[in-house]
Amino acid sequence: MPVVNSWNEWDTLREVVVGSATGACFEPTEPGNRPQVRGPGDLPFPTGPKSDEAVHRADEQLEGLAAVLAGQGVTVRRPEPYDFSRSLRTPGFEVENQYCAVCPRDVMITLGNEILEATMSRRARYFEYEPYRKLVYGYWEADQRVGWTVAPKPTMADSMYRQDFWEWPLEERHARMHDSEFCVTQDEVVFDAADMSRFGRDILVQESMTTNRAGIRWLKRTLEPKGFRVHPVHFPLDYFPSHIDCTFVPLRPGLILTNPDRPIRDAERRMFTENDWKLVDAPEPVLTNDDMPPYCQSSKWLSMNVLSVSPDTVICEEQEKPLQDLMYSLGFEVLTVPFRDVFEYGGSLHCATWDIRRDGTREDYFP
Ligand code: NVA
Repeated sequence: MPVVNSWNEWDTLREVVVGSATGACFEPTEPGNRPQVRGPGDLPFPTGPKSDEAVHRADEQLEGLAAVLAGQGVTVRRPEPYDFSRSLRTPGFEVENQYCAVCPRDVMITLGNEILEATMSRRARYFEYEPYRKLVYGYWEADQRVGWTVAPKPTMADSMYRQDFWEWPLEERHARMHDSEFCVTQDEVVFDAADMSRFGRDILVQESMTTNRAGIRWLKRTLEPKGFRVHPVHFPLDYFPSHIDCTFVPLRPGLILTNPDRPIRDAERRMFTENDWKLVDAPEPVLTNDDMPPYCQSSKWLSMNVLSVSPDTVICEEQEKPLQDLMYSLGFEVLTVPFRDVFEYGGSLHCATWDIRRDGTREDYFP
């Protein structure tokens, strides 16, 4: 098997990258992102490096995940250290600091025997591929069957964003989001890797705040000649969509964990129902939106951001018992790890990993 080989989200995992909080900074306010402190009051969102304590707590939980994976026989790799406190100045923009390497899934994706680096959609994440480059070179040098594609970098200049997006009144937001218009315009190719979900030959791509239609066109034109089929998908009740893995999470052939607050568009559901796939809603998360860590910008649905170790074993967050019970009832073996201290970096178990190698090959689940 090539050293890079992963065609879907569930086949038996052999090698994975687990993110790291070392050097992490707060995400800056920029045209594509308006981070807010959760809870009462209108506290300014901090800038610059996260506290040593917050980094230490998250790193401990990331190391815990790495240890559980290693215990399952999975080879675990980690990103290179990177100084995210450095500001950036490019011809298109300036930003005061960068973000972190907690969520490799947002940036990097393995599509079969090929590694693809996303364009990214936010300024502070422009160079987020760098902590993974040494690993990429290692895989690329080790095996000539490994492909490596870097998507075109957008300018991330002011003109790439719709800066009034954040102030749209609810009614306008509702109307515009049905045309899938969010904070990035359609003029440049923009996508985050975490808006994609892999089903063998078929790849779903969510149109979102972090992936636009030009991004999806680029993915189609790049991937379809290689034998993939790219399907844009939409979840019309999610007013601030970004990253598909808290919304539509395939667990094994024929089974998808779905978000009851964010049903898929009817026309898009048919691809699954007509091929006898079962869509099962995740239970209400234990951690409510009000209990999420104050600096976390993601929703309570991080509960369903699970990582499959194989088609019958899944890793869930330790305290999400109702989800674990659902998994047992669906016939899964469930492993658990504490992970809430990672949430303020935007993701949970799926986000914080990047599959390098899983068993299996390219299957056609939707003939
Ligand atoms: N935007 C998603 C997070 C995806 C990791 C959510 O907040 O539910």
